[in-house]
Amino acid sequence: MRNTAAPDAATPSVDYGIDAPCVIRNFLIAGVAMASIGWFLPALHVIGFTVNLGSALFWWGLCNIAVCIFMIVYAKRGKLRHRDRMLGMISWTGDECVLDIGTGRGLLMIGAAKKLTTGKAYGIDIWNAEDLSDNSVQNALKNAEAEGVKDKVEIRNEDARKMSFADGAFDVVFSNLCLHNIYDPEGRAQACREIARVLKPGATALISDFRHTKDYARMLEQTGLRVSLSLPYLLDTFPPLRIIKAVKPKGNF
Ligand SMILES: C[S@@+](CC[C@H](N)C(=O)[O-])C[C@H]1O[C@@H](n2cnc3c(N)ncnc32)[C@H](O)[C@@H]1O
Repeated sequence: MRNTAAPDAATPSVDYGIDAPCVIRNFLIAGVAMASIGWFLPALHVIGFTVNLGSALFWWGLCNIAVCIFMIVYAKRGKLRHRDRMLGMISWTGDECVLDIGTGRGLLMIGAAKKLTTGKAYGIDIWNAEDLSDNSVQNALKNAEAEGVKDKVEIRNEDARKMSFADGAFDVVFSNLCLHNIYDPEGRAQACREIARVLKPGATALISDFRHTKDYARMLEQTGLRVSLSLPYLLDTFPPLRIIKAVKPKGNF
């Protein structure tokens, strides 16, 4: 049966938040400070050489400001395109059981729920305030309601490193920009092992991130999954994201 759910575009009242708001704020403060100091700093004449530190500082400041702008454009537009890209990598039947790890305000959980008829989409998170603006269960639920999929989602307060779901519970597992927030390598390896554990035989995980992606690919491969890693998506994600596709083989696993 093909999916007949609502279209993918987010409705206007839905806001999936700004990733790493403190990082954006720090880049902005540093950028404005450097550009301003650089603008006013006169060139220095040192033993016959002209050293234009001000100009270097000014341009470095502008680069910092550009990073903020790219991150905000990703959060407001790019992440919706990236979500649709990830959703488009699955052949939906509508009855899938889906998990979004680090769902935040529900980006992939809600996107997946819109593809479902009889299936269900779960979102888990630990709601780190510094990882996403206004990050909360309430805001994820509000978005699910606005997108008309509240009945098809379930949100749980769970850590990617230790999930309560049964082995082989999911047909599809998504995660976007979550795993790099686990700072120790063993924690990230644990999360990868958990992803492999909760996938059904034949099921697919799509893990998107900008850091440690080769490590995730290696760790998922070590659990016996068939893994491929995309090139970075330079045009509509910032920092540029790569997607790991990991498929759990059927049969004796
Ligand atoms: C940058 S946000 C991305 C949110 C969402 N996936 C998106 O793309 O809009 C990262 C999310 O991962 C969550 N997170 C961080 N560490 C986690 C962990 N160990 N387990 C579950 N969620 C985690 C944060 O609370 C945050 O909601």
